Amino acid sequence: MMETIRELPRLRTLIAGWRREELRVAFVPTMGNLHAGHFSLLRLAREHADRVVASVFVNPTQFGPGEDFERYPRTPEADAAGLEAAGCDALWLPSVDTMYPFGPQATVQVSVPGVTSVLEGAHRPGHFDGVATVVARLFNQVQPDIAVFGRKDYQQLAVIRYLVRDLAFPIQLLAGATLREADGLAMSSRNQYLSAAERPVAAEIHRVLLQMRQETLAGGGRDAVEQAARARLTAAGFAVDYAVLRRPDLSEPADAGPGPRVALVAARLGRTRLIDNLAFGKGPSASG
Ligand code: PAF
Repeated sequence: MMETIRELPRLRTLIAGWRREELRVAFVPTMGNLHAGHFSLLRLAREHADRVVASVFVNPTQFGPGEDFERYPRTPEADAAGLEAAGCDALWLPSVDTMYPFGPQATVQVSVPGVTSVLEGAHRPGHFDGVATVVARLFNQVQPDIAVFGRKDYQQLAVIRYLVRDLAFPIQLLAGATLREADGLAMSSRNQYLSAAERPVAAEIHRVLLQMRQETLAGGGRDAVEQAARARLTAAGFAVDYAVLRRPDLSEPADAGPGPRVALVAARLGRTRLIDNLAFGKGPSASG
């Protein structure tokens, strides 16, 4: 039976009890509106731990002005039912006051340097500060042994890795695979913003990522591959924020040369902003 917890003292008591029993605790942070992608992260957590905690918190500090904080889909009943069915032991549901006792404007900020200044960081100023700030708090609240994040948010995973290492959180990170719809569209809560006409077009992002991989592996230069990707997305009706090839650590590779790569796309279709990525090539991957 899953327990839903809204107060920090209760969460601490529950987890302290598990620790006394020497149970391993895994944690899956979410913003709710859960779909099959989230539930696959739950399953991964379950495989590596004795107890699983999931949080649902739509974090105001990671949304910029004019972004979709107000309209972000909130489906608390369905989330709780799905989590229970996926074998979650505890659902952590903090209020904004619990998360930010001095208010979201007066929070101690956690700001990760470097990797946060490019790509998503450049297009959504302050976004990763909000993510790092809330994730550091969630880690302090839950104090898990393991935390699970999806690979779909490739750069977020890099930010969390830096955070865990730099602040010495005793937490093992696990990365879950991106789940896709039948036509390749990466599962995301934001997909439901798409109109019926936009929905099939959205899958073009995945096809473009596959094309970027194919062209790169066939020896195509980075500039040409990126330009072709942007052109294809624009022709399909997207406003492209970026369509780039990077090394696994998100640094810019030289134009040619072997080695592991990740193709990353962020593009807007109507009012919906979508991101996706595809890692490929031989060698160590930074996404773990
Ligand atoms: O990936 C998300 O859903 C959010 O960015 C996270 C990690 C739960 C922090 O609010």
